[in-house]
Parts: sequence; C-alpha cells; structure tokens
Amino acid sequence: MLKMIKMKRVINNFLNQYKEVYDDKLYYDKRMDIKSSDDLNQYYEKIKNCLNCSLGHKRNNFVFGVGNPNAEIVFVGEAPGKNEDLKGEPFVGRGGKLLDKILEAIKLSRKEVYILNVLKCRPPDNRDPNPSEIDECEPYLKEQLKIIKPKLIVALGRISAMTLLKKKDSLGDFRNKIHKYENIDLLVTYHPAALLRNPNFKKPTWEDFKYIKKNYINGR
Ligand code: URA
Repeated sequence: MLKMIKMKRVINNFLNQYKEVYDDKLYYDKRMDIKSSDDLNQYYEKIKNCLNCSLGHKRNNFVFGVGNPNAEIVFVGEAPGKNEDLKGEPFVGRGGKLLDKILEAIKLSRKEVYILNVLKCRPPDNRDPNPSEIDECEPYLKEQLKIIKPKLIVALGRISAMTLLKKKDSLGDFRNKIHKYENIDLLVTYHPAALLRNPNFKKPTWEDFKYIKKNYINGR
C-alpha cells in the first residue's frame, strides 16, 4: 500500500514537471496517443467480420488501415486491390510503392501517417466501388477519422474525394483547394494508380505534396 502511494506521488510529480516543461497541449496529446491506439484496435475488433455487403463474403482480408493511430496526416484511398486483399494492408501493390516513394520525398514514412480506404473489402476485378457499397462502408471510415483526429486528410483520387466531400466534381476541380471535412482540412490529389497510368499527373501531384510538406509538416 505504502509502495503504491509512493509510486502515485512519483508519477504525479513527473506529470506536473512534464506539464510545466511541455505545456498542456503536448501533455494531453501524449495521453491521447494511447487512447487513439486502443480505440482504433477496439474498433477494428468490432467491425472486422463485417458482412454488410456482398464484398465481405468474397474477401481474404478486411483491410482496416495502417499507420500511426495519432497521425496528423491521413491518406484515404478507394478500395483494396488484389495485393491488399491478400496482405490485409492498404496500398501494398505498385501504386502503394509509388505512394511510399512520394511520402519518402517529403520525409514521411507510412508508419508516421495513417493510410486507409473508403472500402475495406476488395471489389471484384478492381472495379469501382458501387454506391451501396460506399454507403455500407462509409460509417467505418467516418469513425476511424473521428478516432484519429488528423490535422489533414488527403483524398487520393476522385472516389475518395466524392465520398468525403459529398460532391460530384472532376479531380481537376477538387484540386488546389483546402476543403473542410468535419472541420479538418482536406486536400485532394491524384490516386497513385492514375500516376502509373498517366505520368503527366506526376508533376501536379508533386506540387500537392510540396504544399503538404510546407504547410502540414513541421521542421523537416
Ligand atoms: N488502391 C486503393 O485505392 N487502395 C489500395 O489500398 C490499393 C489500391
């Protein structure tokens, strides 16, 4: 009992000193680190067996998302492809390798950000998600974003942008603006698969990522 009281005192002293040095914000963010991770894990356990649409019956893996549960930047893709379905992780195919390279160029790794998709299960033959599949899956995305609370959401491609912004526009019209999603900044850029199909999209995408680096990544 005495040991317990001593330990509590040590922890309290440490937290008070920490608060003095680093101020409230960092102090509370640190505590939330653990919470976001727990909340995300619990949420995964809750939804991982979803069979709300037909895609669930055909999947190898439910592709929840990957990265830092407390990330400041979240990337939202469209849906898992073959490789993602097999591995259970978003963006691990050719497009994913390209995304990793672009992240690296702005000194970020996939461990620091969070990467997820609008759909958690693979549509057959990599077809576009259909509206009813998006309707079923979107609440999962919403809840994940609510738990992570990033500073910036990057929508990769038009389907992600249309789902998050509830608006039908061309990718060109979505780009070059800071939109808001539940009060969080949201930027739209090309999907990595589009860059592989059309290298002309690489330059504007690089502009978008330079903007992200300048405005949302501190001191690198
Ligand atoms: N395309 C996506 O939109 N997401 C993935 O995870 C893989 C490919």
